[in-house]
Amino acid sequence: MSGRIGEATWIWKDGELVAWKDATVHLLSTAVQFGSSVFEGIRCYATPRGPAIFRLPEHICRLLDSASIYRMRPDYPVDALVEACRRVVRENDLESCYIRPMVLRGYGAAGLYAVDSPIETWVAAWPWGAYLGAGALEEGVDVCVSSWMRAAPNTFPVAAKAAGHYNAAQLMKAQAVADGYSEAIAVGPGGLVSEGSGQNLFLVRDGVLITPFLDGTSLSGITRDAVLQLAADAGIPVREQHVPRESLYLADELFFTGTASEVTPIRSVDRIPVGTSRGGPGGVGPITRRLQADFMAVVTGEAEDRHGWLTPVG
Ligand SMILES: Cc1ncc(COP(=O)(O)O)c(C=O)c1O
Repeated sequence: MSGRIGEATWIWKDGELVAWKDATVHLLSTAVQFGSSVFEGIRCYATPRGPAIFRLPEHICRLLDSASIYRMRPDYPVDALVEACRRVVRENDLESCYIRPMVLRGYGAAGLYAVDSPIETWVAAWPWGAYLGAGALEEGVDVCVSSWMRAAPNTFPVAAKAAGHYNAAQLMKAQAVADGYSEAIAVGPGGLVSEGSGQNLFLVRDGVLITPFLDGTSLSGITRDAVLQLAADAGIPVREQHVPRESLYLADELFFTGTASEVTPIRSVDRIPVGTSRGGPGGVGPITRRLQADFMAVVTGEAEDRHGWLTPVG
């Protein structure tokens, strides 16, 4: 499965590069005690013109939004953090990699009013292949509907990509893997389909691409947005709507989107093969294949970057 972090050499911390092994925080930092950390996951791809980072400014804007929501905005403008990400990839001599910017509350405050804990900003990067394992992108993955739900709006603010929110996601993932699945899909508090543990979800039914509304239970994924734009480019009709659980069993096609997961087909839900409800053959469907191919062509620089999604590292 997803495997361990592959070490690089340098990590950026507040304007300096520190050696990988020295990139530590104190045990009693607010981030460790209470989960006060917001982060991003960004991919950098090898392209014919050198390494390029996918939708970097959008990810940095979301990082700063997350930090603002938790009242821990760092003193860096978007451009400075964009440069930090490029620098980390360059200085580590990485080509295709995963970039992890983090803003966290460090050591100082004893309790929950954490203004005495300094805001620390970090950017790490390491090589990382297919998140859902070898073969996932080609053949698809087997998933379940989790018995863990997404948090209700006005509990954890989902517009913030905050570390603490991922405790529930870890429960979903652990349960899914223990039960023999690769991933889990969660419903929200209203019982409607929300998203995966770390991915947005798309369905295809009768030629229409469907994805759940951003209803305050799921992250506004940057890959989700890219796929919506690629679908529009390809003339595929798109609908954002409420998605009842049973739609998963009736879909012609299903797939996840996310920075780590990219565009990963889903081949079964709760052991029911996707795309077979009306006697179809199942397997990875044509719209999934098309959008996956279009996505990979853009990110790897094979297709024209019509939307300006790639930031060169060099
Ligand atoms: C909970 C959750 N949903 C969706 C996504 C997909 O978002 P993106 O495409 O911006 O990576 C992620 C990954 O960041 C996530 O953690």
